[in-house]
Amino acid sequence: LSPPEEEQVAEANPDDALQSLTPTLLPDLGFQELVFGHTLGTGAFSTVRHAWHIHRGKAKATWPAYAVKCISTTTIRDMGYEASVRREVAVLRVLSHPGVARLVASFRWRDGAYLVLEYASKGDLHSQIAAQGKLDETCTRFWMGEVTAALQAVHDTGFVYGDLKPENILLTEGGHAKLGDFGAARPATEKAKEMVSASSTAIKNMRCGDWRVKMGVALPEEEQDRRGEDQAESLEESDTDDGRMEGTACYLAPELARGAPTSIAGDCWALGCTIYQCFVGHPPLLADTQEMAIDRIVGFTPASLEFPADFSPDGKDLVLALLNPDPERRLGAGPRGLEEVRDHPFFSGLDIPALYRLEAPAAA
Ligand code: ADE
Repeated sequence: LSPPEEEQVAEANPDDALQSLTPTLLPDLGFQELVFGHTLGTGAFSTVRHAWHIHRGKAKATWPAYAVKCISTTTIRDMGYEASVRREVAVLRVLSHPGVARLVASFRWRDGAYLVLEYASKGDLHSQIAAQGKLDETCTRFWMGEVTAALQAVHDTGFVYGDLKPENILLTEGGHAKLGDFGAARPATEKAKEMVSASSTAIKNMRCGDWRVKMGVALPEEEQDRRGEDQAESLEESDTDDGRMEGTACYLAPELARGAPTSIAGDCWALGCTIYQCFVGHPPLLADTQEMAIDRIVGFTPASLEFPADFSPDGKDLVLALLNPDPERRLGAGPRGLEEVRDHPFFSGLDIPALYRLEAPAAA
């Protein structure tokens, strides 16, 4: 017998470690393999539903859970929403980062298009801030560090996120922050535009599941009751019932409020608003109506922004650098991009790329 060969210990590739933190792609997953639960959120054109991936012979408790964004075909057609869904699918397909709620599958079924996304069980950052009043510096640094890393990955891929706000930052079971809802994402580079047009067939080719084929599958009785026609009918859009202002203008940068398109600089402004909100409990330019918010934003001067006495000094410096009314001089919008934000003293001592491998603060 020859001696066992010396074990080859491969050099750990940090990218592999990050990859393993994101769920696997399931290109064949269809409507018929999902059981839908309650509504997790509603947008202007879509509803996000909690769903489980049925695994026959296993208890429901072990079925993987997903968040499924459901968009009716009528909405897609009538609202000219096809390009938007196409962009969302395109950006999610190319983005593989632990700070992005991953697209696991996408398909069409009957009257709807469905995006199956990684589920974040601890809800969104808005609810987290609301539950606690405001966040402490440790949580803010950790979660905003993760958001900065995720946003940087979006920018590096050539996209603008377009709708950064605490409602769109999701927290996982382990307490890590992920960007959800890429409905406002736009390509910012020629390469990204090509990626979007290359996926122009994405929706047309979304796999069409046939529910009837699977009707004979033995499901636990209570699950059988919930499926079928009713399930599809109940996927229609509904208004938000938690009183939040839909499509709030509070996070818009001044140039966007004046009509400029979404941009990397706009994402940086929204990051500044979000960091302020973590510390204070509300966004810096809070207003009762969209019009009032726009007025406040357009007339904003950094010197007028009030900071509570206990606001971290480095945090204040970072917020003011991100809330620079001049997009050309805003932190994160220069040639080094969000690297400038990562290097800010507010994040000193924090290994931002490593955060997703570290223990996260406990979400409420
Ligand atoms: N609400 C919207 N998207 C979600 C997700 N991916 N996980 C949990 N809740 C959500």
